[in-house]
Amino acid sequence: MTPFLFKIALTMHITGFVILAGIMLADFVTFRQFWKLVNEDWQKAQWLRKIVSSFSPLIGIGGLLVISSGIALLTMMPVDSQLWFRLKMILVILFILNMFFIGPRQAKKLDQHIASRQVLQLNDEIKGIKKRLNFFYISQLLIMLSIFILSSFRF
Ligand code: HEM
Repeated sequence: MTPFLFKIALTMHITGFVILAGIMLADFVTFRQFWKLVNEDWQKAQWLRKIVSSFSPLIGIGGLLVISSGIALLTMMPVDSQLWFRLKMILVILFILNMFFIGPRQAKKLDQHIASRQVLQLNDEIKGIKKRLNFFYISQLLIMLSIFILSSFRF
């Protein structure tokens, strides 16, 4: 029974982090395109931003799947004393903190500036939001890559 449940949890875990990583990468690529379009084609830029916003619920679903299945895996495979897993948990915490304190907050600010068209001015505040969102996406992708490397090598 346990190996079967383990495989179910692992399938959910893999599905969860594929959704998370996939959406994060798609968000980042679309975000870069958005800044290219802002001064070239405002309609398209707004449309692109709407597409990115529609991905948000999937991030929640992916995150929930990863965490719930991760906890289930941990009860069946007690790897919490191993170094790779401890390092992985530090990275998971950084990922969550980034999610709470940087990404969505900056995205919300950006959307407010898009609604008021202030984003077209590209002033210091907008440049700051752009910089912080860039940092958010790059750090989230690097954290996930590091988790994948840790999970593969398991040193
Ligand atoms: C962004 C978050 C996470 C990512 C990207 C991630 C990624 C991975 C990867 C790539 C594996 C290896 C899968 C395999 O063996 O084929 C794995 C295994 C595992 N994960 Fe996660 N994980 C995340 C969060 C979590 C959390 C929050 C927990 C627990 C609270 C957790 C618990 C586990 C356990 C126990 C295993 C070991 C399964 C085994 O030994 O085969 N993970 N994870």
